[in-house]
Amino acid sequence: MAHINVALVKYWGKRDPKLVLPWTSSLSLTLDAFWTTTSVRFRAGAMEDRITLDGQPVIGEQRRRVTDFLDLVRLKSGRTNAAVVESVNTVPTGAGLASSSSGFAALALAASAAAGMELDKRALSRLARRGSGSAARSVFGGFVVWHAGHDDDSSYAEPVHTKRFDLVMVVALISFDHKEMTSSDAMRHTVETSPLFWPWVESSVTDLKDMHAALKLGDLDAVGEIAERNALGMHATMFAARPAVRYLKPATIAVLDCVLDLRRAGVSAYATIDAGPNVKILCHRAHSSTVAAAVRAASGCVTTVAGAGPDAGVVDGR
Ligand code: DP6
Repeated sequence: MAHINVALVKYWGKRDPKLVLPWTSSLSLTLDAFWTTTSVRFRAGAMEDRITLDGQPVIGEQRRRVTDFLDLVRLKSGRTNAAVVESVNTVPTGAGLASSSSGFAALALAASAAAGMELDKRALSRLARRGSGSAARSVFGGFVVWHAGHDDDSSYAEPVHTKRFDLVMVVALISFDHKEMTSSDAMRHTVETSPLFWPWVESSVTDLKDMHAALKLGDLDAVGEIAERNALGMHATMFAARPAVRYLKPATIAVLDCVLDLRRAGVSAYATIDAGPNVKILCHRAHSSTVAAAVRAASGCVTTVAGAGPDAGVVDGR
């Protein structure tokens, strides 16, 4: 079982698509509100992997990503059998809500255990990374940094120890629809065509350094400011891609306006957006109902309040 994470300093762009080595290091918060539970069994005599998500067979590109990942586990463990994979998501899949982060972290944990590989958390994070970059971070709970590294060994996530503070994320669910372009495709296109990509990579180095300092101090306003500028910068790289990639919807902008109004009214609230129209708003737990009510009224969205989630782990044998 693994929980989703939302990046405060984003991962956007692969230096090595095969090994999933990113151009930048990133930093996230694992959330308690959404998770994936996955079981894996290797079966003697079966010809093909059997993969279901929420009881439905997984097909197409999604299936290919999972079977490629199982092939990697088979290669590393010496297993040859086909697998039965059953996954249940509490998070809408492919809607820019980081379902691949919890999905591939849970799959890495379940598949490596079923294959008899005894991995420590760093090795598990490196394995999860091969399924989906952001999954490297979902191996750990709370605040997590993923070091970009320069090869397979040096690109892994680990926890960031911070001053305790009551930061939560109000998740503003604007759309549950499958996004038109996957993050993998969108980031490749951005790296290849956006003149703003390299300046963002450069500014991301400063953002990460500043974020570490802000977390050490438990300074929510600084954490929020850095997270918001980093996320909007990432979307700017997409706007400048040729042709542009645009995930933001009118309701997304309405939530961004509302967050600004809240700040003007003295409420510390800051937005971050991933590869989809949904917005996550960072604020103090004490302000979460005010923030949630305001963004619902502004955009008609549905909200969930999420705190820090735990490490990936085995529950009831899963
Ligand atoms: C915008 O981890 O989904 O959420 O490695 O191609 O599977 P792949 O991409 P993925 O991308 C996440 C992008 C992001 C930012 C982030 O989580 O850091």
